[in-house]
Amino acid sequence: MATLGVNIDHIANVREARQTIEPDPVPMAFLAELGGADGITVHLREDRRHIQNRDLRLLKETVKSRLNLEMAATKEMKDIALKTLPEMVTLVPEKREEVTTEGGLDVFSKKNVLKPLVKELQKVEIKVSLFIDPDHQQIHTAHEIGASFIELHTGAYAEAKWEEQPFELAKLKESTAMARSLGLRVNAGHGLTYQNVEAIAAIEGIEELNIGHTIISRAIAVGLKEAVSEMQSLIKNPRVERLFGE
Ligand code: PXP
Repeated sequence: MATLGVNIDHIANVREARQTIEPDPVPMAFLAELGGADGITVHLREDRRHIQNRDLRLLKETVKSRLNLEMAATKEMKDIALKTLPEMVTLVPEKREEVTTEGGLDVFSKKNVLKPLVKELQKVEIKVSLFIDPDHQQIHTAHEIGASFIELHTGAYAEAKWEEQPFELAKLKESTAMARSLGLRVNAGHGLTYQNVEAIAAIEGIEELNIGHTIISRAIAVGLKEAVSEMQSLIKNPRVERLFGE
């Protein structure tokens, strides 16, 4: 059965929209763990649009499950990973102009850069995963350059119209089986929702699903009523005396 890595980037997105201190992804990671997260995933982007270096530092100290750092294959990020030592690094492609990670990493054309990077990270016991499309050439190359994990991009499945979804699902199943036969361990994620996750969770051989947007959206949906009610009770019953001694 697949485990669940919760991506908490969107919590930091809300904080950064106001450049303030709340919501803080660090205590929220603890709540995600209380809810049963098997791991916490964050993407430290080059432009620091959501997760900050400080978040990563504190998460490394406080996460009790497993910390998975998504990052681009750059020198800056490599140095941060070697200093932070997360349980896992997932290498992803990164474009400044994209809203979220768009396609998988082209490990075939970048193998000369990726191979030494994978080795360097593994030397300090960081597990390395490559976020790739369900494509034979990419899977073979991931194996060839020595990664122990791949994360299969489920975006095409998630975005497919219903009549195309069985085809995308079959591709993910077949890619998982192929990767496993090479000895690779397989995670998957991107675009998974409460509506489409079950078929992916049922694929034999997938170890972990990384899910972010839909969980944070659901957290707003299930938490908003209580949040408004707490604010209303402060407005209706202000505790001014307690605060200012009046
Ligand atoms: N896996 C990877 C490699 C990602 O880049 C992302 C998005 O940051 C996810 C999983 C989670 O995707 P979503 O937010 O759509 O669940």
